[in-house]
Amino acid sequence: MTLEEHARAARLQAYVEYSGFAVGCALETEDGAIITGCNIENASYGATICAERVALVKAVSEGHRRFRRLVICTEAAKHSTPCGLCRQALSEFCGPELAIMLCSATPGKLPTQSYRFGDLYPHPFDRASLAQ
Ligand code: THU
Repeated sequence: MTLEEHARAARLQAYVEYSGFAVGCALETEDGAIITGCNIENASYGATICAERVALVKAVSEGHRRFRRLVICTEAAKHSTPCGLCRQALSEFCGPELAIMLCSATPGKLPTQSYRFGDLYPHPFDRASLAQ
């Protein structure tokens, strides 16, 4: 299965009772493992977690800390990039060369778009920011 296919399969597990907006993603580690995530909503709204952070916390909790590619898939009419909270969370473990690929849940609906993480999030708050 390709990384895109893993992201599409993960999207089918999305729990989207409130927005109906299902997101799936697949994170590829430096050693080739694939960790998936989907968004999981909550009646409180604020306790909702995005697909990207689900994949990231699953990966880190299983001992993975270095990543090569992240594929995100939705059924939206226009591709959307990861939210600010997910960009900041990813920046803790992913360098500017991480490839972020946006694909459609329906193959061929939209062309896949690729970004370099450093272009999407050029100035993360990082450990150097804590220096006083
Ligand atoms: N969502 C994600 O899973 N990833 C993003 O990058 C943006 C938004 C989810 C959160 C919520 O469940 C739904 O999409 C609508 O915001």
